[in-house]
Amino acid sequence: MPKNDLNTENNEEKKHASYVKGVFDNVADKYDIMNDFMSLGLQRYWKDKLIQMVGNNFSGPLDYIDLAGGTGDVALKFKRKFPEANINIIDKNIEMIKAGISKNPNKSNINYLCSSGEDMAIKDNFADVLTLSFGIRNMSNRKKCLEECLRVLKPSGLFLCMEFSMPENYTLRNIYDAWSYGIIPNLGKLIVGSSEPYEYLVDSIRSFPSPNEFSKILRSVGFKKLSIRQLSGNIVCVYRANKN
Ligand SMILES: C[S@@+](CC[C@H](N)C(=O)[O-])C[C@H]1O[C@@H](n2cnc3c(N)ncnc32)[C@H](O)[C@@H]1O
Repeated sequence: MPKNDLNTENNEEKKHASYVKGVFDNVADKYDIMNDFMSLGLQRYWKDKLIQMVGNNFSGPLDYIDLAGGTGDVALKFKRKFPEANINIIDKNIEMIKAGISKNPNKSNINYLCSSGEDMAIKDNFADVLTLSFGIRNMSNRKKCLEECLRVLKPSGLFLCMEFSMPENYTLRNIYDAWSYGIIPNLGKLIVGSSEPYEYLVDSIRSFPSPNEFSKILRSVGFKKLSIRQLSGNIVCVYRANKN
């Protein structure tokens, strides 16, 4: 790639990263309550399903990373299922980490790391399990982030990525669109004091690759044994894959 193209790419990524930082700086305090309102509580069910999909083949003092862990819901659920695990929450946004620390009843049992998903301060082959819940959509360089996930997983490691998708059923899609454009930004205005972060959310969901396209990206990065589980009429997809 010519040098100028590389610079343009980096500038675009920087702009995106700075925009995403602003979004999460703004919403951090109200992040959890907004999620419950927007999803009518379904986000709790989706996160439970994600943890169920880890399966029962793991036990003991696992090394676990919840990347883009935000306020730590997924990591806390993982901790409940695997109490002996070494839990590491990584997030680039310090306000989200602070919001997570303040709701963690047992702070000493979780390591928090403020680090970018595209360049994790984690050694190679570290994690038995890595979850990435509603995080990949927000990365400024998704491919780089996925390569990083692969790098930090042990050869036997498991990757679980949960992300929004679009309903396939026509009626559900219409209801979903009406809710997304008509209700969610207004909830943002009411609860967080601004609709903009939620306009970003709604738009970013629509520009995220389809499950088919995203599966191709995962395979091209090197993930193996990929399976997909659609939840709530394909509003959410969980991608489960192995390093080897
Ligand atoms: C929608 S929230 C998801 C939080 C949590 N995983 C959940 O499921 O509720 C997205 C998170 O990704 C984080 N994030 C955005 N860009 C990131 C990056 N480049 N590296 C690490 N975290 C990032 C944000 O700070 C935010 O906490």
